[in-house]
Amino acid sequence: MDIHSLLKLLSDGQYHSGSELGASLGVTRAAVWKALKRLTQFNLEIKSDKNRGYQLVGGLELLDCDAIEELLPEKTKSSISLTLALKVDSTNLRLLEINDNGGRQNRYSVSMAEMQTAGRGRRGQPWISPFGKNIYLSIGFNLPGGVEVLNGLSLVVGIAVIRMLRSQGIEGAKLKWPNDIWIGSKKLGGILVELKGEATTDWYVVAGIGLNVRMTELDGRNIDQLWTSICEHHECSRNRLAAGLIENLVEVLCLFKEQGFDGFMGEWSQYDLLKGRQVKLSAGNIEGVATGIDSKGALLVDTGDEQLTVNAGEVSVRPNET
Ligand code: BTN
Repeated sequence: MDIHSLLKLLSDGQYHSGSELGASLGVTRAAVWKALKRLTQFNLEIKSDKNRGYQLVGGLELLDCDAIEELLPEKTKSSISLTLALKVDSTNLRLLEINDNGGRQNRYSVSMAEMQTAGRGRRGQPWISPFGKNIYLSIGFNLPGGVEVLNGLSLVVGIAVIRMLRSQGIEGAKLKWPNDIWIGSKKLGGILVELKGEATTDWYVVAGIGLNVRMTELDGRNIDQLWTSICEHHECSRNRLAAGLIENLVEVLCLFKEQGFDGFMGEWSQYDLLKGRQVKLSAGNIEGVATGIDSKGALLVDTGDEQLTVNAGEVSVRPNET
């Protein structure tokens, strides 16, 4: 039986009897019971009561491709192919392995999941990805070859995230170079850009975005830094967030492909969390004041003695004060 359909029925957080579920799904009560056991893989709290049946405690808003596509402008809808899985290792990995837009220049493959079992963060860190709570979304596309075409790429993905948050009334989010999303002194989300290809051919780019939406203390207990979730700041719907994210990503990435990073520098600076702050570079134990970014998206740091240009991926930067 399709456990996605069973989850949909339970997602309202109400009690449903075994016979009611069986009738809706066209299966026996025994088949329902077996399917309920398979739901344990998602670590969901399902109560069973002799008289009332089964309840998914708290309910949840499942992601829904139709609902997401309905929220997208026609232009965006026609340039993407969208897939949603209940559970994957990593949405980035799925796209990197499939590389399925067959070289078409203006197509974007979007992969989403309710849960990741091997979510990938930057610098080899895991990305905690509990079921049904957050957004795990990757977008894959071709980018003409050359090394310089990659300048600022991961930064523009951050711009798309901030535009989406603002358009849904979620104010105050900033970008911590190169592409963490923070609210106040806490991390709300992150971006991992991975590449296939080489400078002489087209790149296949996969940009993965993880956004905490409704993460609980229990889910986040192993995260080794301060974090926050969108629902702590604003009412939100995961489907609306996902649609907004896709729309803004496609818009920003199309423009980036045509014009590069130059046109985005000013906007990135508006969202720059580090500008004017004392920062510490993990490589070399160097301290200084972040003064902004250059036209390639590198971070500029004034140490007092010199102005350093810090390239993405070479160092990590932590604000001393947050
Ligand atoms: C970071 O460390 O800040 C980057 C986190 C990126 C997580 C997202 S979730 C969707 C996509 N799939 C992954 O495995 N990672 C990215």
